[in-house]
Amino acid sequence: MPGCATSKSRPIFARVYAGVSVDMDRRGGAEHRVRLLAGLSGRVVEVGAGNGQNFAHYPPEVEEVLAVEPEPHLRAMAERAAAAAPVQVRVVDGAAEAIPAPDGCFDAAVASLMLCTVSDQRLALAEIKRVLRPGGELRFYEHVISRRPALAALQRLMDATFWPLVAGGCHCARETGSQIVAAGFVVEREERFSFRALRLQPAVPHILGLARKAS
Ligand SMILES: C[S@@+](CC[C@H](N)C(=O)[O-])C[C@H]1O[C@@H](n2cnc3c(N)ncnc32)[C@H](O)[C@@H]1O
Repeated sequence: MPGCATSKSRPIFARVYAGVSVDMDRRGGAEHRVRLLAGLSGRVVEVGAGNGQNFAHYPPEVEEVLAVEPEPHLRAMAERAAAAAPVQVRVVDGAAEAIPAPDGCFDAAVASLMLCTVSDQRLALAEIKRVLRPGGELRFYEHVISRRPALAALQRLMDATFWPLVAGGCHCARETGSQIVAAGFVVEREERFSFRALRLQPAVPHILGLARKAS
C-alpha cells in the first residue's frame, strides 16, 4: 500500500495546526490560497496537504487532485475536507520525498507551507519534478528567510533551537525560492510579501508563484 512506511504521526502538532490554519486563513491565508490555485486545470498533485485547507479553492477546471499527507490525524481531516470539495480529491498517505505516483502523470503540483517542513527539500523538489509532465507547473506558497539581517538572524536562531520541535518540523530560515530554481524549475511569476500568519508571530516574508518544468 502506498505510503505505509511514510506515515509520520505528530498528534499534538496536527491538532494545533488544525486550529491555527483556520485562524491563519481568516487573517488573509484563504485569499493567498485562492491566488495560489487560480487558473489550474487537469490532474494535480498536492504534496503535504495537511487538513485540506486548499481543497475548497480549487477551480472547477481541475479534474482530480491527489492529496499526499503523511500525518494520520491531518490526513483524516483532509479526507473530510475532500468530501466537501468542489472538485474530486483523493487523499493518500505518502511523503514528498517519495510521491506515490508514476513519472510525468500530473499537469500541476501544489506545495503550500510544506517545503519548510520536509526533511530533504532537494529530494522533495526532485520528486515533484519527476511526477510532473514536461511543461507542468509547480504552484508554491511558502514562508521564507527574510532579507533583513536582524529578522534572518532570529529565524536562523529559531531553527537551530526550539522552532522545528514545537512546529512539527517547520524551519523558518529556508531559501525555498532559490531551491526551486536549483531544482531546475523556471519561475514564471513570483510575488513576495510579508504576512503575519499568527497573532503572536512577527510578519515574515512569503513567496507565492508559478514555476514550470521544462517542456
Ligand atoms: C504547515 S503544514 C501545511 C499544510 C497545508 N499544505 C496547508 O497549506 O495548510 C505542513 C504539512 O506538511 C506535512 N509534511 C511534513 N513532512 C512532510 C513530508 N516529508 N512530505 C509531505 N508532507 C509533509 C505535514 O504533515 C503538514 O501537513
